[in-house]
Amino acid sequence: MNIAVKVENLVLQFGDFQAVKNISFEVQKGEIFGFLGANGAGKTTTIRVLCGLLIPTSGSVEVAGIPFNVEGNADLIKAKVGYMSQKFTLYNDLTVEENISFTASLRKLPREYYEKRKKELFDFISFNKPANTKVSDLAGGMKQQVSLAAAILHEPEIIFLDEPTAGVSSAARQKFWDLIKFLAKEGKTIFVTSHYMDEVEQCDRIALMSAGELIALDSPAGLKKTTFCQPLYELISKESSTTAEIENISSKVKNYFESFESYGQHLHVSPKSLEKWIEFKSLYANEFDIKEINPSLEDVFIRLVEERER
Ligand SMILES: Nc1ncnc2c1ncn2[C@@H]1O[C@H](COP(=O)(O)OP(=O)(O)OP(=O)(O)O)[C@@H](O)[C@H]1O
Ligand SMILES: [Mg+2]
Repeated sequence: MNIAVKVENLVLQFGDFQAVKNISFEVQKGEIFGFLGANGAGKTTTIRVLCGLLIPTSGSVEVAGIPFNVEGNADLIKAKVGYMSQKFTLYNDLTVEENISFTASLRKLPREYYEKRKKELFDFISFNKPANTKVSDLAGGMKQQVSLAAAILHEPEIIFLDEPTAGVSSAARQKFWDLIKFLAKEGKTIFVTSHYMDEVEQCDRIALMSAGELIALDSPAGLKKTTFCQPLYELISKESSTTAEIENISSKVKNYFESFESYGQHLHVSPKSLEKWIEFKSLYANEFDIKEINPSLEDVFIRLVEERER
């Protein structure tokens, strides 16, 4: 069986509020699966269900082949998954060694196994400080890596990483992603959230959440291909440079486009139709530098979320 996670019609309700609204998807074994969405979209809530921490209000969930619909299975699931939660999970005033050993005791790992695994993991993350270094004395990137080591101490099949690289340097982020990719190559399933588009690009597939609903699911290339029916162009106004000027010219030309995003002076637009595009060019070609561009994932997400909200 090649399915690591199966979610069918999952609903998660907090009182009257539905944080997750009837979502369904599957994650394949060994996949790097990205989970995207604005703040409050329901990502963490879904992950908490998949880690056996929240019982589904309705719908069904299967993690590593274990169905989770009754509380009883939560412990079985917890043994199969590693979870690096969105909130920082290490104790700052304890040492690295103490943190890892604390995690090992929570997981009831035998001493011998733990000692061996700890060495393996320190190698894996290239941890080269004394093990009695306090977590508070580590750089941000290294803290995240130690936190990852703690999350995979028990060799889980599926690893949930909830914004693991928030706030760390870009070099440290890349190193973290190298670790993630290594784990996936070994056959581990990675379920990861991030707000960084360069990271999301590295996922095999991406699920996009908006206000509790799953609104798209595909590979990065697939999402780019299917989201825009018309080509995407970048327009740079030759005359307008201040915000007010750009707003002014934008309001004049907006109607020609089905999608219109302003990134400062750069406008990313997708025409409503070929006719509209020809009309736009006949009137405004002199006012803009125009070039056709490939949509970025950011273009895709903005477009999909806007379409939804319309
Ligand atoms: N225990 C709870 N009780 C009530 N509401 C909750 C609870 N946990 C989360 N929520 C609400 O559910 C919604 C989804 O929250 P969730 O944390 O899953 O979003 P998220 O996509 O992870 O957002 P972020 O990107 O900010 O981490 C939010 O509106 C949140 O306020
Ligand atoms: Mg979250």
